[in-house]
Amino acid sequence: MTSIPATSMGAPLTRLDGYAKVTGTAPYAFEHAVDDPLYLHPVQATVARGTIRAMDAGRAARLPGVIAVLTVFDAPALADISDGELTVLQDDRVHFRGQPIGAVVAESAEIAREAADLVSVDYRTEPHHTELRPDDPALYAPEQVNPSFPTDTEEGDVAEALAGAAVRIERTYRTPTEHNNPMEPHACIAVWDESGDRAQVTLYDSTQGVHAVRTALAPLFGLDPGQLRVISPHVGGGFGSKGAPHAHNVLAVLAARRIPGRPVKLALTRQQMFSLVGYRTPTVQRIELGADPDGTLTALTHEVVETTARVKEFAEQTAVASRMMYAVPNRRTSHRLAALDVPVPFWMRAPGECPGMYAAESAMDELASACGIDPIELRIRNEPATDPETGKPWSGRRLTECLRTGADRFGWAGRDPAPRARRDGDWLVGTGVAAATYPAGAMPGNSARIEFGADGRYTVDVGAADIGTGTWTALTQIAADALDIDAERVRLRIGDTDLPEASVAGGSTGISSWGSAIVAAAREFRHDHGRDPAAGVHTTTQAPENPDAEKFALHSFGAQFVEARVHRFTGEIRIPRMLGVFSVGRAVNPRTLRSQLIGGMTMGISGAVHEESVRDHRFGHIVTQDLASYHISAHADIQDIDAIWLDEVDEHANPMGARGAGEIGIVGAAAAVGNAIHHATGVRVRTLPITADAVL
Ligand code: MOS
Repeated sequence: MTSIPATSMGAPLTRLDGYAKVTGTAPYAFEHAVDDPLYLHPVQATVARGTIRAMDAGRAARLPGVIAVLTVFDAPALADISDGELTVLQDDRVHFRGQPIGAVVAESAEIAREAADLVSVDYRTEPHHTELRPDDPALYAPEQVNPSFPTDTEEGDVAEALAGAAVRIERTYRTPTEHNNPMEPHACIAVWDESGDRAQVTLYDSTQGVHAVRTALAPLFGLDPGQLRVISPHVGGGFGSKGAPHAHNVLAVLAARRIPGRPVKLALTRQQMFSLVGYRTPTVQRIELGADPDGTLTALTHEVVETTARVKEFAEQTAVASRMMYAVPNRRTSHRLAALDVPVPFWMRAPGECPGMYAAESAMDELASACGIDPIELRIRNEPATDPETGKPWSGRRLTECLRTGADRFGWAGRDPAPRARRDGDWLVGTGVAAATYPAGAMPGNSARIEFGADGRYTVDVGAADIGTGTWTALTQIAADALDIDAERVRLRIGDTDLPEASVAGGSTGISSWGSAIVAAAREFRHDHGRDPAAGVHTTTQAPENPDAEKFALHSFGAQFVEARVHRFTGEIRIPRMLGVFSVGRAVNPRTLRSQLIGGMTMGISGAVHEESVRDHRFGHIVTQDLASYHISAHADIQDIDAIWLDEVDEHANPMGARGAGEIGIVGAAAAVGNAIHHATGVRVRTLPITADAVL
């Protein structure tokens, strides 16, 4: 093996933004230096459904330091009210508890918050429904599921295959509402400048995609895209919740428009995030598996019921992975939605694959038990030669190698399959496995610009986002390789709509999409200007479409291994050990790749045993709306955790050969935990999170 140059792809370069971050000099959305800012605090509905008869803002407006109070009766009109989530303060309807119905703008955040409490509201309430019930007669089939998958699929004759199956299981799994809690709450600063010929608006935002924010927000305010600049160089986590603008962004821009020239700052409180920035929808998933005695799958159904909001539809693609995961000739998948009086669900790390593979990979473990087959062997036995959904060849499916490599490293050989058979003092000990998959896509419409400077460095511009994932570092390495220079000679700029168009950091497509644009631009730059360019020459290039995306089934794969310990008297659950083995194409930067993978796995443990947003259906709001009551795995909960990956390059994925890794780490993780808990205790819990009371 040849050694890798210190800054090239494959080298574990430390984060280029790390110094700025740990010294507090990397500006996050709320921290950008602006002159004479004002502070906004939302007024939120305290009923789940109804009409606002009147709002009295008098006391709030008289509080010293209050500059403006916006209500549903007097806010500036939006030019486009087609998006039910972003249409705020435009009418008197309340669609969910916590909906923004007003905003106070004041000289300090404290005054704004105090004044928001002084706004009195008179509601005409109506009965509301917030509880997901799988027998709800109003369930309906959406036209498609996120972002554009068929809602239902059927292949073969499922009923006949199930009827004739030697082994058959039918199980129902439930996953709860979960909320994204990035360290940096959603925040923005809106500046509406009318000093020139036409309005010029700047939004400093904490977002996964500046251009996506501009595309969504500009029409609301009747602005041409060029009139709205979105800036977001550093983001303290998003996990999907910052993949699109939410109502708070609209509030800030509305307020800035009311008070031109004064920057309006808005940082959501942790509590406000539980009603304003999306969440993982709860699901009820019914799975049926039919198999031959040797475990060969003959039939699969995966039927999903989940929540959407009445005010705007979001349909999680929960059963989609079941369509391509295993070689099963007779398959049926479906999604049904309950439209409730709740905020709009949205992306949370591996939306679809995360809850769906929890259920599917738990069911595979149950089938392994029913057939008396090792759960790793069961999966290998059902490996499909080509994608069952499309018939296309895999660009690279090395799940078997992930499973076998993990089994070796984790120490699976000789495992006694009997549940509740191992004990260490008062702790019941078990191990579990689950498979993972995630699609490897790229978004269209990405461009990059490269300019050679008089200082001998190359400025590389793309409107990408670094949400804590390592984009600053990885894109610099990609640019350095593509230009065949050292990374010190690359000056990367991201997170600004003034830079070339870029897609969101979402769906694990970021590096693939932006990197493809950078490589295309670098090739064209070298072609046009050679290796000894004149200062000031530059090239802007759009990433070409990937011709292989049509020819191959592009997916990443992985195997999750978990050891669980459950206290036999208290039911306390511990996860002392977890190993993930992944096939994700090339490791652009092994240091940041490992962080992404173990981050996903950590979030997977968290979802398995801790996270649940509890909605009080009497009132319609989430009661666990802070980090004291919404439990997230802490450092002490995560012990020996490791991720490794196969040494490979996926030449079909993109010019970098990397398939993206932001989300696959969470996929299958909760199933592996649940399977290990079952192995430890003999108790099969089919509802997340798995808590002490459930395993006793
Ligand atoms: Mo990810 S949930 O697609 O930002």
